[in-house]
Amino acid sequence: MAFRRGNRIELKTPQQFLAMRQAGLVVAHTLEHVRQVAAAGMTTADIDGIARARLRDAGATSSFLGYHGYPATICVSVNEEVVHGIPGRRPLHDGDLVSVDFGAIIDGWHADAAISFGIGTLDDTSRRLVDVTERALWAGLAKAIVGNRLSDISHAVETCVRADGAWHVIEDYVGHGIGSAMHMEPPVPNYGAPGKGPELRVGMALAIEPMVTVGTIDTRVLEDDWTVVTEDDSRAAHWEHTVCITPEGPWVTTAIDGGVARLAALGVTVPTRD
Ligand code: MF3
Ligand code: CO
Repeated sequence: MAFRRGNRIELKTPQQFLAMRQAGLVVAHTLEHVRQVAAAGMTTADIDGIARARLRDAGATSSFLGYHGYPATICVSVNEEVVHGIPGRRPLHDGDLVSVDFGAIIDGWHADAAISFGIGTLDDTSRRLVDVTERALWAGLAKAIVGNRLSDISHAVETCVRADGAWHVIEDYVGHGIGSAMHMEPPVPNYGAPGKGPELRVGMALAIEPMVTVGTIDTRVLEDDWTVVTEDDSRAAHWEHTVCITPEGPWVTTAIDGGVARLAALGVTVPTRD
């Protein structure tokens, strides 16, 4: 049975994981579609409209719309924007680094994911930033295994980023538990020593979401009260997946293949489920 009291971590049943997977697939396919159609000349509001239509067609509802008053279905964060960019009239340009964050609810169960990609051609540094942030996410997902401790995930994310070069891992914003609500216990930092925090158990689900910058880790929030930007206007990337901790290993609900291919490349074998 799921619970949500105090600071305990909600445990899901296999049936509840299936509902989370349905929400995850809506998110995965929508983000893939957005990545394919996003182009110079479109506005960030256009991207929001695409995601909203997909959500409606799938019979799902938005995790974001109305969350603490958030006014849209997705967050679109461009270049120096780190997270929580509100879609609007801003047109996308060739060379922009775009992060799209999107959450869906099916039968009361949430999925939350984010991707970063370029419009047209990205400069070399931005491309490497996007790549290392995604690889760091997968390094963390590969540690979402029964018996590991929470900070084993955090440590794997940070280690992957640091091994690649002089990037900076955001500390002001972290990942989170997820299930019957979008944001639940426990917080999931993208940095820290391994072997600490709660032991990972079957039934837990986490949203792991590294945010990495070219320059400073210092951030500020714009006057819209949402958009988080880097203090030094350096570019940032953001990748996120929702992962269920199962007896057979990590089940990445927001990856179209459940994470099978990327996890296998990291030496973690998981069953193909749908
Ligand atoms: N998806 C974001 C996260 O990962 C939350 C978006 S904030 C919202 O935590 F207000 F837009 F919902
Ligand atoms: Co999240």
